Amino acid sequence: MPYQVLADVPLSDEILAMIGPECAVHVWPAGEADLASLLGLVEGLFTYGHPRIDGALMDRMPRLKVISNFGVGVDHIELAAARERGIPVGNTPNVLDGATADMTFALLLAAARNLVIGDRFAHSPAFTHYDPSILLGREVHSATLGIIGMGNIGRQVARRARGFDMTVLYHNRKPNPAAEAELGVTYATLPELLRRADFVTLNVPLTAETRGMIGFNQLVQMKPSAILINAARGAVVDHTALATAVEQGWIAGAALDVTEPEPLPRDHPLLKLENVIVAPHLGSATRQTRERMARMSVDNLRAGLLGQPLPSRIA
Ligand code: DGY
Repeated sequence: MPYQVLADVPLSDEILAMIGPECAVHVWPAGEADLASLLGLVEGLFTYGHPRIDGALMDRMPRLKVISNFGVGVDHIELAAARERGIPVGNTPNVLDGATADMTFALLLAAARNLVIGDRFAHSPAFTHYDPSILLGREVHSATLGIIGMGNIGRQVARRARGFDMTVLYHNRKPNPAAEAELGVTYATLPELLRRADFVTLNVPLTAETRGMIGFNQLVQMKPSAILINAARGAVVDHTALATAVEQGWIAGAALDVTEPEPLPRDHPLLKLENVIVAPHLGSATRQTRERMARMSVDNLRAGLLGQPLPSRIA
């Protein structure tokens, strides 16, 4: 009898091949009746997107041995509930830091140098001649970068900033002397970082502590010339406050790889602002990184099904 695995969305042939023939992989059914009978059989849950997995759902899967998440962020999974029920949860740390830091910098550069507005203009009939007076951006080199969250991804962002001769401030739950020694970054309180930084990047996980950490009170402290970059989770930022801050010129713009909800409703005020760039959650979306994430999440799944320790366990 194959192991019964449930995935929230259809998985690619590559991932199915890695999971192997000893598993029967089911896709989350639309109807409640089909779901109810399937949940009774499920031994492994593979979360590819961000479905909400709480204790009540776990209780509907009495045979569940493992939850394996394709990604490092596990804010959609109730970890405490999994711990209480003795269900190990795996995720994919360390393999996506470089790609996510690259994306953070791509957003920063694009926003600083009007790349998206410029691209639209250059594709349009309005671009008829070179005009040195248009779309003057902000210098990235020698500017001050404020990194909120000096974990693995924040450190990679700091490494890239060194190549741009930036002054790097960071804010973290507690100071990180190793990062300071290695990368020449300086710890700052949140208000100090917001007041001094030309670019503020968010590289924190979404937790009870970081949810809504950037709202009206924080945005109003930033420089009118500053740009906010979010490559973490949308819910770290209050989107109503952000739209107001950009509209009112409290800050110069924002570049978001993540939003809350995701995607934003098509009529959301942030989507109407020219100086807000929104990407469809591409932080770790490179072929190489996705392959590493697939390998790690499948290894976690298989280990859990076999009752072995997960190679990368978060709960
Ligand atoms: C991650 O790894 O957390 C990415 O954001 C995808 O979920």
